[in-house]
Amino acid sequence: MAWDKTLLFTVDRSRRTPIFEQICEVVRKWAHTGGLKQGAMLPATRVLAEDLCVSRSTVVSAYEQLVAEGYLEGHKGAGYKVCAIGSVELPHDHMPENISKTEKAASLSALIPSQPDMRLFPYRNWAKIVARVCRTNPESMLTGASSFGNLALRQAIANHVREWRGIEASPQQIIVTAGATDALNICFHTLVQPGQAVGIEDPGYKPILRFVTRLGLAPVFLEVDQNGTRLPKTQARPDIVVLTPSHQYPLGGVMSPQRRWEYLDWAKTNNAWVIEDDYDSEFRYSGRPIPAMAGFDHLNRTVYIGSFSKIFSNTLRLGYIIAPHSLVDPIRQTMDSYGLKAGLMPQQALSEFIHSGDFYRHLRRVRRIYSERRKFLVQELCERFSQFGTVQDHPAGMQLVFHLNTSLKDKEISTRAKHVGISVEALSESTMENDDYNGFILGFCSYTQDEMRTVLDKLFEVLST
Ligand SMILES: Cc1ncc(COP(=O)(O)O)c(C=O)c1O
Repeated sequence: MAWDKTLLFTVDRSRRTPIFEQICEVVRKWAHTGGLKQGAMLPATRVLAEDLCVSRSTVVSAYEQLVAEGYLEGHKGAGYKVCAIGSVELPHDHMPENISKTEKAASLSALIPSQPDMRLFPYRNWAKIVARVCRTNPESMLTGASSFGNLALRQAIANHVREWRGIEASPQQIIVTAGATDALNICFHTLVQPGQAVGIEDPGYKPILRFVTRLGLAPVFLEVDQNGTRLPKTQARPDIVVLTPSHQYPLGGVMSPQRRWEYLDWAKTNNAWVIEDDYDSEFRYSGRPIPAMAGFDHLNRTVYIGSFSKIFSNTLRLGYIIAPHSLVDPIRQTMDSYGLKAGLMPQQALSEFIHSGDFYRHLRRVRRIYSERRKFLVQELCERFSQFGTVQDHPAGMQLVFHLNTSLKDKEISTRAKHVGISVEALSESTMENDDYNGFILGFCSYTQDEMRTVLDKLFEVLST
């Protein structure tokens, strides 16, 4: 099958969009709208370069970018052909209106951290599986689950964490929750009473501080250094600590093995618990995945929290707890009085989606795309923003931190940025009592290069005036 559209577009040299990106835009659009079918060969790089009057290396860069994004397969010399885009993604025109609108609004003006790109969601395959469950096993969507959730999904999660996170657990130890947030709430309700102390990272995920104070618990702030989160000072005696050891939020570092052992020792000695919030650890872009702390603790003093919000969909609201055997009954009691918050409806479908392999195909695809987007953001920050600060580049996660080295204050810049129509998250908003941080937390997953460039151009303007 050959591509016959070579002459149907011309590059527009008056646009700010680089030529290679214009080629990418056209191929993406035709792949989505069915103009380019799966298996169609693209014109040779030399031929397209001549047709468009551009250099061959420009066409090679465009094709390679499209390979990285999962649109094309092949390589220079052997030709490039179109992948099965139609089976993993709906044309944008057919996207549910509310999703495309919110995404568009968010993507035009912000670089929100921890935000997956829902435009890449595998709508068609997901719909097929949901339809099959509706036809063949509709009761599973409404009834039959215990307070811990659908058993097939809990089995799928047990397999997932064994393979990806090095954790051995049975489905009986797994509780399906409404995201990591709900999981944290269940852990707090089970493990601590009002007046007791909870160790939280500083800087860290601010909503945790809000839960802690709302439940009448006392926060103990834990500093972060180059080895990860530091242990509580001896006079502070938290009963539990909430940690992000695989990818500290928001700074991004990994906790050293030595520090992990120190924490596990500390938990054993003090009869305390470590809650491992492993919110985005499937996104690691180089090197080997960092095994979960709960894995090498054999779920002794560690309660593990995972989430599908980042790797699949943040609106399905599904996450999970993996509990040590000794906590299964106490958590069941909490669930019995607290009630199941996770919707049952998508659980059977998600278990089948994981089992079919579609879930991992999706994960590999978005990881490749996010990796390219991250590379672009790092490069832009290093090349254009070096006079204002430095990037803390950890090849993982969904956001990175840009540390300001000027006298400008991040909150002030963030306020000024709003006046020019962009929203950037000040790093100091994530601190609890520590004044040492000044910078921005920049998400990169949910934005194309053009969308990121729009925000960065305006941020540059604000920083320069
Ligand atoms: C560190 C951290 N923990 C937990 C969460 C909450 O995840 P969920 O959307 O699954 O509730 C987030 C969300 O961004 C996060 O950044």
